[in-house]
Parts: sequence; C-alpha cells; structure tokens
Amino acid sequence: KKVIFSGIQPTGVFTLGNYLGAVKNWGPLQDEYDCTYSVVDLHAITVKQDPAKLRRQTLDCYALLIACGIDPQKSLLFIQSHNPAHSQLAWVLSCFTQFGDLGRMTQFKEKSQKHPDDINAGLFTYPVLMAADILAYGTDLVPVGQDQKQHLELARGIANRFNGRFGETFVVPEPYIPKTAAKIMSLTEPEKKMSKSDPNPNGFISILDEPDVILRKFKKAVTDSEGVVCRREGKAGINNLMSIYSAITGKDFDEIEREFAGKGYGAFKMAVGETVSDELAPIREAFARLSKDREYLEECYTKGAEKACRATAKMLRKVYKKVGFIGL
Ligand code: TYM
Repeated sequence: KKVIFSGIQPTGVFTLGNYLGAVKNWGPLQDEYDCTYSVVDLHAITVKQDPAKLRRQTLDCYALLIACGIDPQKSLLFIQSHNPAHSQLAWVLSCFTQFGDLGRMTQFKEKSQKHPDDINAGLFTYPVLMAADILAYGTDLVPVGQDQKQHLELARGIANRFNGRFGETFVVPEPYIPKTAAKIMSLTEPEKKMSKSDPNPNGFISILDEPDVILRKFKKAVTDSEGVVCRREGKAGINNLMSIYSAITGKDFDEIEREFAGKGYGAFKMAVGETVSDELAPIREAFARLSKDREYLEECYTKGAEKACRATAKMLRKVYKKVGFIGL
C-alpha cells in the first residue's frame, strides 16, 4: 500500500480553500492508501500565537478533520507536537538543506514581508520541518494545494541529497494536487489566494460559516461586467467560482458554461452558494457534535500520538545511524 501524508496548521477555522484544495481529498484516499494526517502545531508557532487560543484551535482543527470524513480508525490522525521525531529529524535535515534554497521559498518571502518585525528562524526553516513530517513516514504521495508545491520540491531535494550521500534512506515523495481546486482565490480579490488570515471576512468562506453567511458572501463575490459564465483569462472572479462549483459537483467547465448559458451572474452565484452551503452543512453538524465530546477527541489523539511515534521510530534510528550518531 502506498503511504500518504499531509498536514494542516491549526491557525483558525479552516477555509473553503483548505477544504477543496486538500482536506476534501483526504477522506476518499483512506480506503486505498495508508494515510497519515497531522494537525501541525509546531508549524503554527512560526507566527505569533496566543497559547490558550492555539490549544483550542488545535483541538477544533482535529475535530474538524474528523467532521470532514477522516476516520481515526482508518487513518493515523495525530497532533504534530505529540511525536518528537518530527523535530528530531528536522534538525538533521536542516544540516542537509542549503540556506540559499530556503531563501528562495516564496511563502517565506511573503510571510516575512507581512511580519517584518518577526522574521524568526523557525519561519525560515519551516520547510525543513515539513520535509521531516513527510520523509519520516516513508511517504509516497502528499495531497496538498498548489501553494505547497515549492515546499514539496524542497523536500524531494533534501531526500535526494541525503540518499545520494548515505544510500537509499528516504522515499522521494510526489505531490498530489487536485486539478480544479488547486488554488481557490479570494471572493473579494480574486487575484489573491483565499486565506483565513484575510482581514476582510467576505474574502473567504470559513468551513463553519452558516448558510445565510455563505450565500451573502457569494452574492457579494467580485466578478466582471461581461455577464457571461465562461472560463477565460481575465475573468478571475468567474473562473474561481467555476472552480469551486466544479470541485464540488464534479461537473467540468463546458458543462457549467452550458448550464448557465443565457443566465446572469446572479443565478450562477446563487447556485454556487447553495452548492457550497449544502456541502458544508453535514460538516458543521458533525463538528458541533464532536467538539462537545472532548473525551472521544482525547482518546483519538492519544492513540494517534502512540501510533505516530511507533511509525517513525525506525526511520529516525536509521537516520541517526547513517549520519554517525552512537546508538543506545
Ligand atoms: P496550510 O495549513 O496553510 O493549508 C492546508 C492545506 O490547504 C491548502 N490550501 C489551499 N488549497 C487551495 N486553495 C487555497 N486557497 C488554499 N489555501 C490553503 C494547502 O495547500 C494545504 O495543502 N505547510 C502546510 C502544512 C504542512 C504540511 C506538512 C502539508 C506541514 N507539514 C506535510 C503536507 C505535508 C500548510 O501550511 O498548510
């Protein structure tokens, strides 16, 4: 069975972008693959977090993943900081990562521009920790959105460099990026990625938004003045709405064009809003149930932690031995 690994940061309720670009695909992979999914709290502290809030968001994020169809019986679902191997491997890998390569990461450049007063070393070495997450489990496939592609390339480079020096150690992972929803854009500024850190809440759909809020946000979505639902360069807003609609309904772009031929943007936006609202309703209900059941969540993440530590112990030992550490 092929091994799948992916992660999500617990930096607030995740968005429709996170869901369509990544999390929606995680559940269906469980039956065919050996899946590991992580709430990456170590990554979250590369930007300033309030400790109490981080704790709550981590637990909520864990519950949300279950609500999105990740079954802790089928998949290994755990909280990153519960497995120390991630940090341990990250240190070793950082010694096989070039400063220049990290400096070229666009996400680092963006984030350091956004927080010029806190360009900490963790923000810089973030992709090394991500490489450790992936490589520790012998991962074949990493289901992520477009924005993580460069980080994954770096992880492949690190794996190759290490393997070249010490012989086959790591599996070199492949990205698994969805075709239509790889990059969901902001509803208010469709040239920008949809992001939960957007100060304008109309720009993003939170996966726990109520139906009326979802409909209102889609109604306000920025489009263009042409009034024709079709996919073309220069129609960023409509292209984005078509991607969202396609990712949920499975309809291709030609089908969508035909469906809305002769209808205005109003009708199209309404249809997209309703589709999204219907998709998210069961998730919201499941989350409401799960988030009250702390005991169940605690049981799940405790088991997940044990399984995660067991899953990576051998790899860490192998790496320590290869680089020349004395084993105990
Ligand atoms: P994070 O928490 O920013 O996002 C989680 C996942 O959501 C995807 N995503 C999007 N997809 C489409 N459209 C969007 N607007 C959009 N916004 C976010 C991301 O690509 C991601 O797949 N570094 C990672 C977390 C991570 C990780 C890992 C992922 C840590 N270790 C190991 C894979 C493997 C991150 O910050 O994701």
